[in-house]
Amino acid sequence: MQDAAPKPLHLIVACTESRVIGRGGRLPWLIAEDTAFFHAATAGQTVVLGRICYETWPQVRSDGRKPVVISRNSALALSGVFVTPNFTSALELADTLPGKIMICGGERIYAEALASGRPLHLHLTLIHAEIAGDTFMPEWRHLPWREHARRESADTNYRYTFLELSLP
Ligand SMILES: NC(=O)c1ccc[n+]([C@@H]2O[C@H](COP(=O)([O-])OP(=O)(O)OC[C@H]3O[C@@H](n4cnc5c(N)ncnc54)[C@H](OP(=O)(O)O)[C@@H]3O)[C@@H](O)[C@H]2O)c1
Repeated sequence: MQDAAPKPLHLIVACTESRVIGRGGRLPWLIAEDTAFFHAATAGQTVVLGRICYETWPQVRSDGRKPVVISRNSALALSGVFVTPNFTSALELADTLPGKIMICGGERIYAEALASGRPLHLHLTLIHAEIAGDTFMPEWRHLPWREHARRESADTNYRYTFLELSLP
């Protein structure tokens, strides 16, 4: 593997104020504006994601994304998909690939990213609703984030806030 400087991590996540991100292996909401934002923000980038997220995103390789999937099952590898057994090896590989490193979850991968010690960017869609779930974004609000952008939005079902935060 070639040497490369460690890159910042861009965590991209939609969660409720109670930190729910998923239920039953899927998103517990459908917010078209957020889906479009997620696809645009990750297009052309290296995306690091867990095996369940990968299995529910068959189009991950479209739009020039370079997927790095974390799984103990190396047989998952398809053309254009890298599979690594843990978060550390995923980052070692992602550092050598072009584009930003977008951390796309799930729960344990967000936790390891928050604890990584690397500079962080958090692209957060905060959904202002109580929605039941079984998968959670680890608490991030205690960290000294700098806020770069905030935009309020809504659809017929939900109110939500797009936030861009960073941590040096
Ligand atoms: N709202 C959002 O922005 C958002 C974002 C992401 C996910 N989600 C939701 O969250 C749920 C999926 O997330 P999840 O946390 O349940 O699963 P996940 O992280 O997608 O996948 C879990 C699997 O990935 C592998 N894995 C993950 N972290 C690992 C690590 N640090 N080291 C080694 N292996 C690791 C293991 O695969 P093996 O068992 O194959 O070894 C593990 O069983 C879904 O409901 C999804 O819709 C929501």
